[in-house]
Amino acid sequence: MVGDHEPPGGGTRIKARAAQPVLVTGASGFIGRHLVRRMIERGCRVSCLVRASSRIDELRSAGVQLITGDVTDRAAMGSALEASQAGVVFHLAGLVKALGEDDFARVNAGGVESVAAACADRADPPVLVVVSSLAAAGPSAVDRPRVEGDWPTPVSAYGRSKLAGEQAAARYAAKLPTSIVRPPIVFGPGDRGTLQMFRPIARLGIHVVPGWGERRFSLIHVTDLVEGLLLAAEKGERLHPGGAPGQGVYFMAAQDEPTYAQLGAALAIALGKKSATLVHLPGPLVRLVGLCGDAMGRIRRRPGWVNSDKIAEALAGSWTCSSLKARTQLGWSPAAALAQRLRETAQWYRQAGWL
Ligand SMILES: NC(=O)c1ccc[n+]([C@@H]2O[C@H](COP(=O)([O-])OP(=O)(O)OC[C@H]3O[C@@H](n4cnc5c(N)ncnc54)[C@H](OP(=O)(O)O)[C@@H]3O)[C@@H](O)[C@H]2O)c1
Repeated sequence: MVGDHEPPGGGTRIKARAAQPVLVTGASGFIGRHLVRRMIERGCRVSCLVRASSRIDELRSAGVQLITGDVTDRAAMGSALEASQAGVVFHLAGLVKALGEDDFARVNAGGVESVAAACADRADPPVLVVVSSLAAAGPSAVDRPRVEGDWPTPVSAYGRSKLAGEQAAARYAAKLPTSIVRPPIVFGPGDRGTLQMFRPIARLGIHVVPGWGERRFSLIHVTDLVEGLLLAAEKGERLHPGGAPGQGVYFMAAQDEPTYAQLGAALAIALGKKSATLVHLPGPLVRLVGLCGDAMGRIRRRPGWVNSDKIAEALAGSWTCSSLKARTQLGWSPAAALAQRLRETAQWYRQAGWL
């Protein structure tokens, strides 16, 4: 799948990988399932690292090679690389919500460490594409989207763990051609995260806004992200030991950067409604709701979508990022406008009975 390229920014020459197989971690997750479908469409031989507890019906019927293991287990990763003979590894496995900072660190930082170490141990190391997050970089000013070279200032345990994952990948950069993609909010069919924003509008006609002040957001549709991941594998700039800040890192996002109010209006239109009523919740109340979410999570022993860590992000300011580097270096751009993508997603939720 990957051509013979000299990566921009001066990395080692990546030899032709056209016929080489691909290994995907996190393949049973929201983004992973879309990536696997796309790789199969492209005729790639796909192997997936899954856990014994992962829901794998779709992957199994797609005919991919399933390898059981935990991403934090370096030996299991080594076996997965051997079994798959992967020339490209897409590392997506991670926790987007957790009961505590330790869990985030173990999987989101420790997982990258073990994947990168196992890849670097190979006689012929694969290209590694790590899916990080805008949360690793931190919030932006309302009028200035983040760029890759900005100093990271994560505000959540999730963001700190994703940044630690990036730093773990950088430790292997001398041996391993690695690119990092930092998506903002990812949405699309099968996503339970943004479903939490669609639901109150679909059911009650309200859009809940935490706190006050103008804040803007970047979003990306999962299909556009998947194309970006493929481009990053194919011809992305690679991390470089001692490289300039942001070297080997890409943001990718839809052109529009709506405010909370504009996003609510766009979601309402996507759902076939005229508008949504904005319900502002004051910061202290939102924090209290987050603490209740934490308590519920501890009782259920399963983290919920509303928790203190997500609230810390929600109250931190704007979350925008510039795709200029991905556009100019990779030729990446979203295939459809945000409004159309939101409409398609709303339709999918309806058909799936999720709304
Ligand atoms: N969704 C977003 O808005 C967003 C935005 C920015 C970045 N990201 C990043 O994108 C990646 C994928 O996110 P997603 O939304 O697809 O998340 P998801 O639906 O929760 O999927 C997470 C995947 O990681 C796997 N996983 C978790 N812990 C693992 C472990 N210890 N060993 C092996 N596999 C493990 C899960 O396997 P099981 O099926 O067994 O649980 C699942 O396949 C994550 O790294 C996330 O941080 C997501």
